[in-house]
This record gives sequence, C-alpha cells and structure tokens, in this order.
Amino acid sequence: MRYAVLGGGKRIRPILAIAAAEACGANLAPLMQHFAALELIHTYSLVHDDLPALDNDDLRRGRQTTHVVFGEAMGILAGDALLTEAFSWLASPADGVPPDRQLRAIVTVSIAIDSKGMIGGQVADLEATGADAAGAIEKLRFIHRNKTGKLILASALLGGILGGGSDEQLQALDRYGTALGLAFQIVDDLLDQEESSATLGKTAGKDLAQGKLTYPAVVGVEEARKELAALLRTAEDNAGMIAGRLNYLAQIARFICERRS
Ligand code: IPE
Ligand code: IPE
Ligand code: MG
Ligand code: MG
Ligand code: MG
Repeated sequence: MRYAVLGGGKRIRPILAIAAAEACGANLAPLMQHFAALELIHTYSLVHDDLPALDNDDLRRGRQTTHVVFGEAMGILAGDALLTEAFSWLASPADGVPPDRQLRAIVTVSIAIDSKGMIGGQVADLEATGADAAGAIEKLRFIHRNKTGKLILASALLGGILGGGSDEQLQALDRYGTALGLAFQIVDDLLDQEESSATLGKTAGKDLAQGKLTYPAVVGVEEARKELAALLRTAEDNAGMIAGRLNYLAQIARFICERRS
C-alpha cells in the first residue's frame, strides 16, 4: 500500500478538493485527511488497472507496478485495502462539519466510483477493447466520463461540500468538474501516443497496441484537441463563478489540459 501510494503521482484529485474548499472559504486543516482519501481511491484504481487481467502494465509512476514487485495476489489485496481505508478516512471526525454534510460528501464519493461510475467505466473500457472505433464517440464519452471523469468531479464536489459551499457554488463546481473530468482523460489518451514512457512514468503507446477506444482513435488528434479546448473554456468559466477570495481552480484546469505527463 505504501509502495503504491507514496511512489509519486501528481496528486491532482486531493489538490482539486483543496482548491474547491479554499474557493468556498473553508478552513482546510480539519479536512486534509478526507481529501487525502481521494488519493487512496485513485491509487487503488491504478493498482487494479495495471493488473494482468486488466491493462497488464509493468510501469507506473516511474517504477515497476505494485503487482510486479509484490505479486498479483498482493496487488489485488493492496487495492482492496486502499479502497477500504479511504472510506474510514472519509468518515473520520471533521471539526466544524455537520454530520449531514459529511454524509452527503461520503455518498458523493461512493456513487462516483461504484458500478455506475468508475467501475462501470472500467468494465465498458475492457468490453470495448478491440472494438471498431468508427462511430464509437458516444460509447467513448461514456467510458471516459465514468472511468476517469466521475472521480475528478467527485474531488471538486468533496471540497465544495465539506468546505461549506453554497448551492450556487456547488452547481458551478459540478459543471467545472464534469468538464474537467472528461478533459483529463482526453489528455491522458493524447499523451499515451505523443509522449515517451520516460516522460509519462508509464508505458507509452499501449492504447494503440491494446486496441483501446481512445479520443485519437475515434475522432483523431485535431478533433480531440478542439473538444479539449471547449471543455477547458467551460471549466474556466465555471471556476470564475465561484467567487472565492483564493481561487486557483482555473489555473488547475489549465494545468490539466496543458500537462505533458
Ligand atoms: C492516470 O491518472 C489514470 C487516469 C485516470 C487517467 P493520473 O494522470 O492522475 O496519475 P498520477 O496520479 O499522476 O500517477
Ligand atoms: C485508468 O485509465 C482509469 C482508472 C484507473 C479508473 P487508463 O487505463 O487510461 O489509465 P493509465 O493510462 O493506465 O494511467
Ligand atoms: Mg485502463
Ligand atoms: Mg491503464
Ligand atoms: Mg491511459
């Protein structure tokens, strides 16, 4: 568990939660463990995504994948334990947060990663592997919104909910996170074919090799970049509606869309 979590990574999901909470004017200190839970969930999803039965990857965050180092059984169990630990962190006492708000936060994360969310997306991703890319844009959007988008959205919402955001702020965070979640995976697809394994810290070029349904495969690079630009604008516009004193949500959106790893 330590090997997988503490071995690098951009930490985008907890950073999004922190930024959303700050934009809503929250006191961050009592919420950090709750936001860190997002990284446990994300890391569990990576450990399982890399397993031989899924994407069968041996490189992650610049190192050998967890199952390569510790064996497949320990890879599965480390993922199980990270997911479970995350919910005990989410449910731990949060000074100044009323119980109904914390319950709403826990439910928001749960439904983002259940069989109708992240896992549903992973199932659709595997089922679509090797499928004909022509005309598959709706299926592709479903995969990307679910396997990646919903946890990104839930991260922004977790910050807003625990941070005491108003209904208007939560609605803007919802639109922001929905746009950014899809944008995140479009970039992941583009980087897989544009960057090297050394830069990415994970195996480059594997989507094509494995016959994955991706944005470049379905609509081409140019169209993918157009959709990405439109999603970034939506994210920036909505970031601007959350009129917090300290608001770097738009900068984070730009970082996600312009990153090279
Ligand atoms: C990679 O996520 C997996 C996807 C959901 C696309 P990240 O690009 O956030 O990976 P780390 O955490 O920085 O390693
Ligand atoms: C992973 O998507 C999504 C989840 C882990 C839920 P990818 O399979 O595209 O992620 P990478 O490219 O291996 O990081
Ligand atoms: Mg995958
Ligand atoms: Mg993968
Ligand atoms: Mg990928």
